[in-house]
Amino acid sequence: MTGEPINIADFERIAAEKLDAGVLGYFAGGACDEVTLGDNVAAWRRWRLRPRMLAGVEEVRTGVEVLGAEVSMPVLVAPVAYQRLVDTDGEVGMARAAAAAGTVMCLSTLATTRPGEVAAAAPDGRRWFQLYCFRDEGVTRALMDEAVGSGFEAIVVTVDAPRGGRRERDLRTGFSIPEGLGVPSVRAALGVDREVTIEETFALMDPTLSWRDLERLASECDLPVLVKGILTAEDAELAVQHGAAGVVVSNHGGRQLDCVLATADALPEVVDAVQGRATVLVDGGIRRGTDIAIALALGADAVLIGRPALWGLAAGGEEGARRVLELLRDELELTLTLCGCAAPDALSRAHVQRAPVASVYSG
Ligand SMILES: Cc1cc2nc3c(=O)[nH]c(=O)nc-3n(C[C@H](O)[C@H](O)[C@H](O)COP(=O)(O)O)c2cc1C
Repeated sequence: MTGEPINIADFERIAAEKLDAGVLGYFAGGACDEVTLGDNVAAWRRWRLRPRMLAGVEEVRTGVEVLGAEVSMPVLVAPVAYQRLVDTDGEVGMARAAAAAGTVMCLSTLATTRPGEVAAAAPDGRRWFQLYCFRDEGVTRALMDEAVGSGFEAIVVTVDAPRGGRRERDLRTGFSIPEGLGVPSVRAALGVDREVTIEETFALMDPTLSWRDLERLASECDLPVLVKGILTAEDAELAVQHGAAGVVVSNHGGRQLDCVLATADALPEVVDAVQGRATVLVDGGIRRGTDIAIALALGADAVLIGRPALWGLAAGGEEGARRVLELLRDELELTLTLCGCAAPDALSRAHVQRAPVASVYSG
């Protein structure tokens, strides 16, 4: 590729050139036929913007409040496992990039760096911890305690992965996590002195987790608890009833159950069900500032990006991830300006409509 990357697709191409086939397949791939993986991106483009003219807007700001504190843009970094597969700094580089861009990084339970190290590397950054719940409550508690003790500000419980999805790209390439690249916080929480494989880790997770467990966790935790992996109004209502401070409309980037709704299609019903009682975030397929604006117009408080940040990290380490975040902020700022909106919260459902059917099918 020639020249500097000017959009997320360019970062993806550079990352694809750099990474070996197995690692690329692990990050890029989805479940089974990847119907949802593709639909996540396509679904934002089934909406069209309704911009307003002569709105008298001179200065546009992109900052918003999320869970009571400011971020420079309504774009947060989603939890993504094993970031040292693409860059030697891994999660540390990602945390520094998010801090430099003025936004939140959500650290995965399956991170290759412990919460304390991430906090020490980016002390000024805002951090949330993504939690997988284990059959052994002591392990879950130890993971949470480490995050709380390291200054993380929220716990994001992922509920769409009682088992790993069927990732056929990994089956074809024969990809497995290289020996020696472990998940140190899980290892510490288990109290073992050897690496635990991803298969072992998934086998130790609790597939029987229920709303009652979620409620107990939320009531015992000093931090706000968000539920990640919600796709229906029914579950959004249950999440609020059981004490969640927020929901993340997500299908795990199309990596878990294939053929579920794209997140852009699930978002409106979740927003309508929550009715402002909790924070609503969304991830999956966000690749442009216009995608972010559509999500906000549909009622999301902010979006998260998974692969785009990873492509930045793979292409240029911490600096690359920061540039991806800044690129999306710039695209959002331009979109807001051209929509006649002075700030993200000026966007409303009046700014979007479904794309005419003919344009959806002609691409
Ligand atoms: C390689 C990879 C690993 C992921 N690991 C996790 C994880 O450990 N925990 C989690 O809750 N979500 C995980 N996700 C899902 C992301 O948090 C997020 O929902 C998804 O990537 C959003 O879609 P996008 O990649 O299209 O932005 C992972 C996604 C990818 C691509």
